[in-house]
Amino acid sequence: MIDKIEILNKISKIEDPDLGKNLADLNSIKEVTIENNTIKVYIELVQPIFTIYEEITRKINDAITSLYPTIEVEVNIAERMYDLSKRKVLKQVKNIIAVASGKGGVGKSSIAANLTAALSLTGAKVGILDGDVYGPSQPTMFGLDEQPFQVVEMPDGTTMAYPLEKYGIKVASMGMILQKNEAAIVRGPLLAGYFSMLFEQLEWGELDYLVFDLPPGTGDVQLTLTQKIPLTGAIVVTTPQEIAVADVRRSIAMFRKVNVEILGVVENMSYFIPPDLPDKKYYIFGEGGGKRVSEELGVDFLGEVPFEILTRESNDSGIPVVFREEAENQRKIFLDLVRKINKKIRQRNYKILQIPAMKISL
Ligand SMILES: Nc1ncnc2c1ncn2[C@@H]1O[C@H](COP(=O)(O)OP(=O)(O)O)[C@@H](O)[C@H]1O
Ligand SMILES: [Mg+2]
Repeated sequence: MIDKIEILNKISKIEDPDLGKNLADLNSIKEVTIENNTIKVYIELVQPIFTIYEEITRKINDAITSLYPTIEVEVNIAERMYDLSKRKVLKQVKNIIAVASGKGGVGKSSIAANLTAALSLTGAKVGILDGDVYGPSQPTMFGLDEQPFQVVEMPDGTTMAYPLEKYGIKVASMGMILQKNEAAIVRGPLLAGYFSMLFEQLEWGELDYLVFDLPPGTGDVQLTLTQKIPLTGAIVVTTPQEIAVADVRRSIAMFRKVNVEILGVVENMSYFIPPDLPDKKYYIFGEGGGKRVSEELGVDFLGEVPFEILTRESNDSGIPVVFREEAENQRKIFLDLVRKINKKIRQRNYKILQIPAMKISL
């Protein structure tokens, strides 16, 4: 005889690795059914679940088969999410991540492209929005140069515009609205209006993540964008140099001013390992700047990304390096960043879910 109570007790104790609470505390177990030789478990976890799906499934499997070794186990995980319908824009986008830097050239766009690519490797639906008006890089990084948006005329005469798509990732930039030299002429409010089209009028569809490659700097443009777009959190990119690190302070101050959570700091171009001397590691731009500034400002340090010839080549040739077969090392680095970022996002989403849960008495 299969004892459902015993199963429930056992799986209740499994911990959500990101939230540090067990499935009972999280009220995650929705149903356990027993049909012939199969136990079906239905649970609900705070989204995004991509980086914990496998671990939780395996733990539930192990817990049940330790009690009943010959039984079949089927685990169904649904996402728990707060209501997005009251948003003014991007109502179908679950998580919006801004990638920012105090100054240009630190590799913000490269990090944004590869984070987006790594997120898609976890099975999530993702898009990237390039906010750099004067020098959009994402079309190049995704090999989409010079292509305009796809505009479709609907039967009722209205038109719908869609982002472009590459490697299963949706991509949009100002360059897709304006001609190459137009951006330099169109300024001020008009430019802001064009830019708003990218998130107000473009049909992004349902996405798990939208990565927003913010223009470099901490001026009015950046401030307005961070207020207009319902950001889940921000990632600040820096190089190890003291001079770049000073800009991190400004970036973080800007996000704090508008109450956007800092997911953490990523240090790019941290070191160089010559391909023909794999035992050597050169800290060309100094060592540990990103980590030090993170500690100083009380934000998470997410990791170091090396300076690499393959990465530079990939950026120029339109394929994010994490998609390259030979880039095992970069893939590992970016998937590790994604795991840490997801942990922060899930903790935030859990907190938001808690508040209405306390108020609603349904
Ligand atoms: N980790 C890296 N290794 C090698 N080249 C990189 C790396 N990160 C960025 N780059 C290169 O450095 C230049 C600037 O990067 P980019 O992402 O455009 O910076 P930003 O968006 O901060 O201005 C680009 O040519 C890019 O390909
Ligand atoms: Mg850039």
